[in-house]
Amino acid sequence: MRTQVVIIGSGPSGLLLGQLLTGAGIDNVVLDRVSRDYILGRVRAGVLEEGTVGLMCQAGGDTRLRAEGLPHDGFSLAFDGRDHRIDLAGLTGGKRVMVYGQTELTRDLMAERERCGAPSIYAAANVEPHGFDGQNPYVTYERDGVSQRIECDFIAGCDGFHGVSRKSVPDTAIRTFEKVYPFGWLGILADVPPVSHELVYANHPRGFALCSMRSQTRSRYYLQCALDEKIEAWTDQRFWDELRRRLPAHHAEALVTGASFEKSIAPLRSFVAEPMRFGRLFLVGDAAHIVPPTGAKGLNLAASDVHYLFNGLLEHYQDRSNAGVDAYSANALARVWKAVRFSWWMTTMLHRFPDTGDFDQKIQEAELDYLTHSRAASTALAENYVGLPF
Ligand code: APR
Ligand code: PHB
Repeated sequence: MRTQVVIIGSGPSGLLLGQLLTGAGIDNVVLDRVSRDYILGRVRAGVLEEGTVGLMCQAGGDTRLRAEGLPHDGFSLAFDGRDHRIDLAGLTGGKRVMVYGQTELTRDLMAERERCGAPSIYAAANVEPHGFDGQNPYVTYERDGVSQRIECDFIAGCDGFHGVSRKSVPDTAIRTFEKVYPFGWLGILADVPPVSHELVYANHPRGFALCSMRSQTRSRYYLQCALDEKIEAWTDQRFWDELRRRLPAHHAEALVTGASFEKSIAPLRSFVAEPMRFGRLFLVGDAAHIVPPTGAKGLNLAASDVHYLFNGLLEHYQDRSNAGVDAYSANALARVWKAVRFSWWMTTMLHRFPDTGDFDQKIQEAELDYLTHSRAASTALAENYVGLPF
């Protein structure tokens, strides 16, 4: 088989790139190791920047997002027993974010891909990129025990942090930067109305808590927890009790509880691989970088990578210019590092670290106080939260 672009990975990065390329008449094949249903069973974050919504529109997959997504003009930073609202729209000249689950976005992109008849191959074993240093790259895989090979012009490695694309690059050609945080997030989903109509990021002596949502009737809550915490030790009752303790009294009193239908612990990590291009192989999204979820940047960064790569490939095919693909890594990384910095900063400001001494504690309190009382500082937070331009 031959195509123009092989996309390894059918997460948001791969599917978004695939639909943009398909819309521009550039042939592509999406390959994933697991099944469609497995991918749609994963629960991830749910805050979209306007740029991400714009790309979904360009990809033709924004109908449900526009009908069911919840536009948010602000969020709350809760500390010292009360809310401090960050007026995103007021501070950024009218920008807002859209609350819409990543799982739903993935479902919409898969449906759009199916509607267009663009090829996707699921349950592909032993996917491997080859020859990307030369002019004739190809990807091999096995399906139902039969070996297959797809010749192509380019390979997009959209296969997440544990994927094969980054691992196929020789160690000498790649540099990685990593920070592992000494805690995780315990998250639950429950069909109860959200405690507040906006997100609440709470800094509390017992640890960070986040109140988020998927809809007016479905809530997503998180608690900072130790890395060795056992999920079985967290009954719903214990989760709700702990969440109440970490929220200002008016939220704790208003909290509606109920049975959770998803509960998981995720570690927090910052990671960047440089460069993001190796000849005819490009790393996109989580394959190249991971951010802690505190700034809600993971999916949005994947979308900005896709923007740069799609435009580079479009220039290659339409204008016969390689300027865009040549600039891909530098352009993507410039934005990636700013989001990595922002996510690290939000994480540092809002969590309790095991080694936090009295001095660090006072600095954290001063930072929150400054942030919520200085328009300049709030604006810096707001412009990063709604997303830097790309
Ligand atoms: N071969 C083929 N496919 C693979 C392989 C492999 N060896 N390894 C992983 N994959 C697939 C996974 O099964 C998954 O469906 O690649 C896909 C990667 O998807 P994501 O992990 O969702 O990564 P990405 O599309 O970059 O999405 C970024 O998702 O992980 C969140 O926080 C992240 O929100 C961000 C967004
Ligand atoms: C979520 O809704 O899952 C969510 C929202 C905001 C974050 C992280 C996760 O910062």
